[in-house]
Amino acid sequence: MSSLVVYPGTFDPITNGHVNIIHRTLEIYDSLIVAVASNINKRSLFSIEERVDMIQQVFKDDPGVKVEWFEGLLVNYMKRRGAQVILRGLRTVTDFEYEFQMALTNKMLSRDIETIFMMTDGAFAHFSSTIIKEVVVLGGSAANMVPEIVEEKLRIKFQSPEGD
Ligand code: COA
Repeated sequence: MSSLVVYPGTFDPITNGHVNIIHRTLEIYDSLIVAVASNINKRSLFSIEERVDMIQQVFKDDPGVKVEWFEGLLVNYMKRRGAQVILRGLRTVTDFEYEFQMALTNKMLSRDIETIFMMTDGAFAHFSSTIIKEVVVLGGSAANMVPEIVEEKLRIKFQSPEGD
């Protein structure tokens, strides 16, 4: 398919759930852009550069994945990139309301943009970046929850006395 697909999110940090969504989408589309939001509503542990860099490292051997960051409205970024499709993952029914609001708001802002949803694999549906950060800060292992490079960065981040 030729439409340009954008997978937006905070990715603080990227998890195996996100990675799974990306891999499965690449079985349908030739490529996609992971768009990391410089999200004003969320205080992030990793800087925008760190989040982009981790995703680039995870997909370094995957030419179909491009990683960028954006600020401001997602639809404006999409217009600048000439992209038509927003990809979002759905974990549980609790995600639905928020995703429904976002998809309809984005549609109101730009009639040309469509949002498509992929169900998160059952193995990853129960966690989030926040829960994973809590596991690591309390000394647990996130080995099956995030890519190796991300686990390493989380460990370093939480070992640092300043937390940065
Ligand atoms: N597996 C595991 N966890 C997943 C997941 C998956 N497949 N998909 C999402 N998650 C988790 C994330 O880790 C994240 O966890 P956290 O809340 O603990 O950080 C949570 O679900 C939310 O996911 P995410 O995709 O990162 O959504 P978001 O709410 O952070 O991102 C934006 C939303 C950035 C896309 C949205 O705020 C946006 O478009 N912002 C730009 C401004 C704008 O245009 N606003 C108007 C939009 S209507």
